[in-house]
Amino acid sequence: MSKIGRTFPGISGPKRILVTGASGGLGSALARVHAAPGVSLCLWGRDRARLDAAADQCRALGSAVEVRSLDLADGEAALDALRAEDADMRFDMAYLVAGRGDTRAPGQRIESAGLALRLGQVNFSVPAAMASELVQHMAERGGGRVVLIGSAAGQHALPFAAAYAASKAGLARYAQALRIAAAPLGVSVTLAAPGFIDTPAGRAVPGPKPLLLGADEAARRIARAAMAGKGHFVTPWPFAALRVIDRMLPTGLRARLLRGLAPPGG
Ligand SMILES: NC(=O)c1ccc[n+]([C@@H]2O[C@H](COP(=O)([O-])OP(=O)(O)OC[C@H]3O[C@@H](n4cnc5c(N)ncnc54)[C@H](OP(=O)(O)O)[C@@H]3O)[C@@H](O)[C@H]2O)c1
Repeated sequence: MSKIGRTFPGISGPKRILVTGASGGLGSALARVHAAPGVSLCLWGRDRARLDAAADQCRALGSAVEVRSLDLADGEAALDALRAEDADMRFDMAYLVAGRGDTRAPGQRIESAGLALRLGQVNFSVPAAMASELVQHMAERGGGRVVLIGSAAGQHALPFAAAYAASKAGLARYAQALRIAAAPLGVSVTLAAPGFIDTPAGRAVPGPKPLLLGADEAARRIARAAMAGKGHFVTPWPFAALRVIDRMLPTGLRARLLRGLAPPGG
């Protein structure tokens, strides 16, 4: 039985699960949370060696695993691949985890236009489009769960990570709207907004990382929230408090504080 099956013994666990970003730290951990005999996983990523390593770990836990290596920068190709995989596997759960955490390059005062384009595509447009496509198919089959990975950074107008923060904020609003539309159709849409996670990408971000979560712990929390049908899940909880405080601050004070958060050299 998977870890999630032990946590929710009364709820029939998902059996056919898509995970994008499965070659990365959080995506591979989410795949392992669900891996068990009787559970089929479809793992997407770009780096074939890390993707295969993640697949092997899940097979060792008893899952049947398919992998697909593709670049989400090509949105039409991603949607074609999703339609083909879904026709084959009929997903009852999907974690859209893939994303980039790039911030303003050292020495730059303003983020590059290219970064805004790239993050808009990979962090927002493509996962949003994939979520809509999945909800359509799941609704026709009578239900399912879609989980989008946002970020606590999406709650704040970070001047050194404008594209990252905005792409995750956009994803959060998209998820909220999709959730309202999808609920009567039997499909739950969860937006998980974690703080700092100890993954290679997380470690590459300079500066302090308070309340850092291990990837396995973050994955367990996100999977539990998704299985419980939570809509907007912020973890660890102090980041939810920061979201409220941010909204209460006067504009000038907020701008000064956010400018002061820029990482060294950033
Ligand atoms: N780590 C943190 O502190 C943190 C905090 C909050 C939210 N998050 C979010 O959590 C998610 C996973 O992050 P992580 O820490 O696990 O990072 P990671 O280890 O770098 O994993 C990122 C994943 O996204 C995939 N990806 C990136 N660009 C892609 C593209 N153009 N096409 C296809 N796949 C692409 C990567 O594939 P390849 O490696 O194969 O290229 C990898 O599988 C991201 O959405 C991130 O924004 C992370």
